[in-house]
Amino acid sequence: MCGIVGILGSAPVAPLIVDALKRLEYRGYDSAGVATIENGHLDRRRAEGKLRNLEQCLQNAPLAGTIGIGHTRWATHGVPNETNAHPHFSGDVAVVHNGIIENFVELRDELAADGYEFQTQTDTEVVAHLVARELKKGQPPEQAAFAALKRLKGAFALAIMFGRDDDLIIGARNGPPLAVGYGEGEMFLGSDAIALAPFTDAITYLEDGDWVVLRRSGAHIYNMEGEPVERPRQQSSATAFLVDKGNHRHFMEKEIHEQPEVISHTLANYLDFATGGVKLFETPIDFAKIDRLYISACGTAYLAGLIGKYWLERYARLPVDIDIASEFRYRELPIVPNSAALFVSQSGETADTLASLRYCKNAGIPIAAIVNVRDSTIARESNGIFPTLAGPEIGVASTKAFTCQLSIFASLAIRAGLDRGTLTREDAAAMVRSLSEVPGLIRDALKLESRIEAIARKLSEVRHVLYLGRDTNYPLALEGALKLKEISYIHAEGYAAGELKHGPIALIDKHMPVIVLAPSDRIFEKTVSNMQEVAARGGRIILITDEEGASRTSLDNIETIIMPKVPEFVAPIVYALPIQLLAYHTAVAMGTDVDQPRNLAKSVTVE
Ligand code: AGP
Repeated sequence: MCGIVGILGSAPVAPLIVDALKRLEYRGYDSAGVATIENGHLDRRRAEGKLRNLEQCLQNAPLAGTIGIGHTRWATHGVPNETNAHPHFSGDVAVVHNGIIENFVELRDELAADGYEFQTQTDTEVVAHLVARELKKGQPPEQAAFAALKRLKGAFALAIMFGRDDDLIIGARNGPPLAVGYGEGEMFLGSDAIALAPFTDAITYLEDGDWVVLRRSGAHIYNMEGEPVERPRQQSSATAFLVDKGNHRHFMEKEIHEQPEVISHTLANYLDFATGGVKLFETPIDFAKIDRLYISACGTAYLAGLIGKYWLERYARLPVDIDIASEFRYRELPIVPNSAALFVSQSGETADTLASLRYCKNAGIPIAAIVNVRDSTIARESNGIFPTLAGPEIGVASTKAFTCQLSIFASLAIRAGLDRGTLTREDAAAMVRSLSEVPGLIRDALKLESRIEAIARKLSEVRHVLYLGRDTNYPLALEGALKLKEISYIHAEGYAAGELKHGPIALIDKHMPVIVLAPSDRIFEKTVSNMQEVAARGGRIILITDEEGASRTSLDNIETIIMPKVPEFVAPIVYALPIQLLAYHTAVAMGTDVDQPRNLAKSVTVE
């Protein structure tokens, strides 16, 4: 996580760096800082907390200088205070860093023994001291940086600046992304192309092991052997506009309400509503030929994958292995022949998902990704992508990206079913028809917002919540719990309804709200039996169902959210709405920071 920026400009750069950092705030918002060079001296401003605190600090004490580096932090080593905020200095050297230096303890001990004093608790400070020590030995800055880089283990994207040279920034990438931007007599460095969008659309993405010497006249890229390497320059499609909230209080609220439209766009990319068929979209995966599909992702994207597994296995009879990416990357599973892998990520930068992708790539199987950010590393390293057309998702809690991911999984299940001969044209046409109803059904679900808000106000007073569901509503129960946890800080767990009696039922008492996801489908009665078991033990039930489901429930004293009647196949996409709204309104009632909840970041580039 963390966002980094470097600018070799022609006018004062501090305001431009802050502007770029605003576009990177999704990567972390624990603290922020900027350093520039003025009259041959490094100077910096840093502030704990959100970027607005740094802006305030710069208003009170502006920074001059036409070269600078900046940072927005998601803390890994050291508490998020001003001292630990980047840039870090050592003598004439300034450094900003995204990632984790894994051998920092060993390096810190070595540098301390050499007389270097550490001011911070960060791992990054060793980089500044390492470079400064090489400079002291008489090395020129480029060689000093290269020598320091060779000592580092772990994941890093770095920007290094030297007080005595106001025409030099050195960048390096090993893991987290880093892009070079080309201007007219100006050069830029940033964690992504969006950060650089106001300045340039001519971008080169560094590859792992690359380091770059930037001067206003251009960029020279080298590998870790010190040899010059060529990397393609491309035109970025990243938008220069900062997306705004429109009439909404929060990005999350706006993104929830955008779902009918973005789901419509996404589905139209894959399905032909006029003929009831699937479009001939490009796919690196030949569904007819593979015997197994590996899916891997993190957080909400993983839960979309879990629903995808249910669909692909049910409708295409395709065996699917799904893993949380942080587990997948280290469990050394044998990759079977005739298989393919599919990765799911909104940001396309999640470190664990990327590592899993590379594991499968090494095994030589076809790689596809469902991604929202088309320029991302995961998109670039896949053999082909299925883009979600959700538009920029700013709220840390994923909403519209999730339902767009589900829309793609549903489309892929139909395509795979047809390719594998497990679905007839008529079956497929019926499924496409169900999907075509989704945007309208979501609009109907949005009309329930005031009812959901009233329930959420009561939820905001509790400390623990259970979510229950069966079949595809089980991953959705996990998603409901994740949404609630991350933005309201209420402890929530999702369970397969049938699993309750194997332990968690011990938690049930009159203080424990249990939210049951139960559309009236072929297993409705089973879920209702589990709900009866909760009621018998005095649990507080909130049932999310449809009219028919409500009429088939004999329990009194339960709260209901009555959804429109939804075809079973698409229910998890539509039932995502009430769980998102419940989390959102609970968080609003509690007064938490909905779009930037504590301790989180939108893009997780450390493992
Ligand atoms: C979702 O609300 C979360 N903020 C988080 O779980 C997220 O889905 C996860 O970090 C994966 O991110 P990605 O989709 O960008 O890979």
